[in-house]
Amino acid sequence: PTRPLIAPSLLAADFARLKEEVIAVEQAGADWLHLDVMDGHFVPNITFGPLVVKALRPHTKMPLDVHLMIAPADPYVTAFAEAGADHISVHPEAGPHLHRTLQLIRSLGKKAGVVLNPATPIEAVVNVLDLTDLIMVMTVNPGFGGQAFLSSQLSKISALRTLIDESGRDIVLQIDGGITAKTAPAVLAAGATCLIAGTAVYGAPDYAEAITAIREAAPP
Ligand code: DX5
Ligand code: ZN
Repeated sequence: PTRPLIAPSLLAADFARLKEEVIAVEQAGADWLHLDVMDGHFVPNITFGPLVVKALRPHTKMPLDVHLMIAPADPYVTAFAEAGADHISVHPEAGPHLHRTLQLIRSLGKKAGVVLNPATPIEAVVNVLDLTDLIMVMTVNPGFGGQAFLSSQLSKISALRTLIDESGRDIVLQIDGGITAKTAPAVLAAGATCLIAGTAVYGAPDYAEAITAIREAAPP
């Protein structure tokens, strides 16, 4: 199997030291930086917006993987693109026209992602695969870090693996929520290619050790 991409989620970092926390995971071997944007409306928590993405952009070469948990998303997509996001992912529930939102993200030269909540079926993405660079499966309900991994989502991950393979498209299959060295093996066995981890990285004493433990977690 190919080496999975590891994307630490800044949500679990020390917000008083964001720049240092970004640099630390890059030096620890992270592939992408995951940025959770929450509006207190689409999800019951508030984090940060494009100003923070812009402030961090000069301090890392890692692709910035921006996860928008905001509704509506469309009015803010351009601001995140201009702030330096490399990937912009949206929930189908965050707007009435997912196809148009993905077109907008692509038109700004960014990779476009679709995020599926635990209750959202894979059908939500089936008809927009031609505009999709990333599919993210939520293995917790979005809004907070440190929640328990929902193993009910493993069959969805497997089904998406099959869908992506049959499409012949180059789509990254990301998993977000409750990822640890213990939950990673089943997720990798189901066909994920990118693991997002907040608490398991930023809550660990040694970030490099934590990233390696997740990346090298052997499928069962
Ligand atoms: C939840 C966020 C996740 C979160 C994951 O709404 O989308 O990215 O940071 O945190 P952990 O890894 O602690 O479950
Ligand atoms: Zn996220």
